[in-house]
Amino acid sequence: MNLSARFEGFAEWCDGTSPLYECISRGVASDADLLSLAEEVPSERSPPHVLLAAVHSRLLADTDHPLADYYPSVTDDPAEGDPFPAFRDFCAEYEDELLPVLHSRRTQTNAVRRCTVLFPAFSHVSREVGGEPLALVELGPSAGLNLCWNRYAYDYGDASRYGTGEFALDSEIRGGSPPLPDEFPPVASHVGIDLNPLDVRDEADVLWLRALVWPEHGDRHRLLAGAAEIAQHHPPDLRQGDAVESLPDVLREIPNDVPVCVFDTQMRYQLPESAQERLGERIEEAAERRTLHWLSGHEAAAEWDNALTLRWFDGEEYRRLAAYEQHGKWLRWLP
Ligand SMILES: C[S@@+](CC[C@H](N)C(=O)[O-])C[C@H]1O[C@@H](n2cnc3c(N)ncnc32)[C@H](O)[C@@H]1O
Repeated sequence: MNLSARFEGFAEWCDGTSPLYECISRGVASDADLLSLAEEVPSERSPPHVLLAAVHSRLLADTDHPLADYYPSVTDDPAEGDPFPAFRDFCAEYEDELLPVLHSRRTQTNAVRRCTVLFPAFSHVSREVGGEPLALVELGPSAGLNLCWNRYAYDYGDASRYGTGEFALDSEIRGGSPPLPDEFPPVASHVGIDLNPLDVRDEADVLWLRALVWPEHGDRHRLLAGAAEIAQHHPPDLRQGDAVESLPDVLREIPNDVPVCVFDTQMRYQLPESAQERLGERIEEAAERRTLHWLSGHEAAAEWDNALTLRWFDGEEYRRLAAYEQHGKWLRWLP
């Protein structure tokens, strides 16, 4: 797909959830100068995400450029009208500052509300292994906020609150009966493997995490800030590496009698197809030698409003456990 079509596709994806990015992306799709700027982003890193986040990070850091007036994440009273001329002007003025960001940063949105589907999924796996503590291994954790899932509380609007922390993630259950035990399933260890782990104690990394969240999504900005604060006090164990290549070594560190739950959300779409296949093979091989379950949030399912589905591999078979809105706003537990 050429770059212009990728921006058009991105605009469609933003339809209804980020009018600002929808409008800007459509403008970029037919602007030769901006497409050439976006070409600076290595193609596998999703140029639309990275260009928009590079601009957003500069605006969040500080600027009095008129483009800032359109961003609800920067001003309480955003301007109406077409933001594209100001976006174009901003990119021309700040090109020298944008270029190093376009060359070095990746799409690493850490959507902590996805924990609202992971919590029942871990509970499901925990039941499968008779309540034995799980060794959790996350592939592509970004800053590892979802590895801290049992430090947050959960509110599904059902009059119960799960977990004791003050900081709560909310979601809506739109169908089915997810397992939501009063006690969190026990965890033996947790570790994440990322090509480029982000560090919530590093200001520049936190700014990049904020910049990746779309400007209109105030509740996601709030959840990111709350989770990052918790993770700053309890830094997750993150390893730098290719998840497919490093997985066997990481699994070898875990005692053989401890059941493993490998999980990934919104990571596999960044792998080339051959690496996705190799990942599946590696996991299946490992599951022949030890108790291993795999939860993977990856494929979109048209029959559930294009929600993502969380697939579960029980060591022998694959099954869909849940459908969930891409950022975790709602979930449907599947029969
Ligand atoms: C969109 S983020 C998702 C982060 C997190 N899983 C979530 O759902 O909030 C995708 C992450 O996968 C990582 N990633 C992509 N390819 C990878 C690979 N081959 N090995 C390890 N991490 C990878 C990226 O660096 C990025 O941090």
